[in-house]
Amino acid sequence: MRPSFVSIDLAALQHNYALAKQLSPSFALAVVKADAYGHGAVACANALAQQADGFAVSCVEEALQLRNAGIEQPIVLLEGFFDAEDLQQCHRQQLWPVIHAHWQLELLEQHAGNQALTCWLKLDSGMHRVGFFPHELEQACARLRNLPLVEVPVLMTHLARADEGQQNEPTAMQIGSAAVLAHRLGLQLSLCNSAAVLDWQGMPSLWTRPGIMLYGANPMLNAHPLAAQLQPVMSFQSQIIAVRELPAGQAVGYGGRFVTREPCRIGVVAAGYADGYPRHAPDGTPVLVAGQRVALAGRVSMDMLTVDLSAAPQATVGSPVELWGKQLAADEIASHANTIAYCLFTGIKRTALAYS
Ligand SMILES: Cc1ncc(COP(=O)(O)O)c(C=O)c1O
Repeated sequence: MRPSFVSIDLAALQHNYALAKQLSPSFALAVVKADAYGHGAVACANALAQQADGFAVSCVEEALQLRNAGIEQPIVLLEGFFDAEDLQQCHRQQLWPVIHAHWQLELLEQHAGNQALTCWLKLDSGMHRVGFFPHELEQACARLRNLPLVEVPVLMTHLARADEGQQNEPTAMQIGSAAVLAHRLGLQLSLCNSAAVLDWQGMPSLWTRPGIMLYGANPMLNAHPLAAQLQPVMSFQSQIIAVRELPAGQAVGYGGRFVTREPCRIGVVAAGYADGYPRHAPDGTPVLVAGQRVALAGRVSMDMLTVDLSAAPQATVGSPVELWGKQLAADEIASHANTIAYCLFTGIKRTALAYS
């Protein structure tokens, strides 16, 4: 069998959720959209089923996966419903859609159904992606409240720059405007993503929505003492499947990007961009081989990548490789590859997931 797999540490996920919950004023929704950021939504939701106040996903299809797996907690649809059929499923499965647009209000008015429905109202407080502008909010709320079977307990907004830390005026303005509007409309607030959970404590966010921190990555742009308490959940592992002894001056891989400066042992790892390793990772990106940090050497191929084994002289065919995980933070690989841990995690493709 190809020796490449991704192992998922569900105890670490539970630990990270417990930290998020401890830092949240009240309820913490575990964000498990995009297949729990590549970690497997059903397994993650089941692991959190005894702890989590609820879950957040992006669409009905993701919510149905959880309901079919027996998840009974509230499930918030962060983008709400997309059509009348989705709305029917919200009624049937008691999902909580976020209402962010006029067309959704219209659909709700046309298909009110005969069952109670809990909706969250979305404010665009500055992200300018989805949500009602502040001047539209009161009317949108009134339209929802006009529907006898619809309950609107929560005003939700999303922070665009919480990862930059507290000295950030746009975030303070987003929070301020959401708090004023929620108070005026008598709604509870849901503000905090992971960065805000970690760094903006004491916020009036009754419902937090931690995502990336559950999976053990730092949501902040810079190091943060609380992020240091998170435990990595995903370990991307493989093996050395070939070793090349090369003289100086030899080019390795596509495009000959890496050229040996001296006689060099090149290790070939059985993982590549088709598995989710970033193709644009540059030479020098760390890879852990037999417990030693070595450097990526040459362009990443579809199902293989090459490393300079100079720093791991004992490494040989069969040596274990960690591409990111417990000893090599995904955040570090992401920063080498000019991306974010979110992309690495959700980019995991055909590599088998193994749970512990
Ligand atoms: C509306 C909303 N809330 C919460 C989250 C979770 O954010 P994070 O993973 O940064 O905690 C996301 C993620 O993109 C989101 O779109």
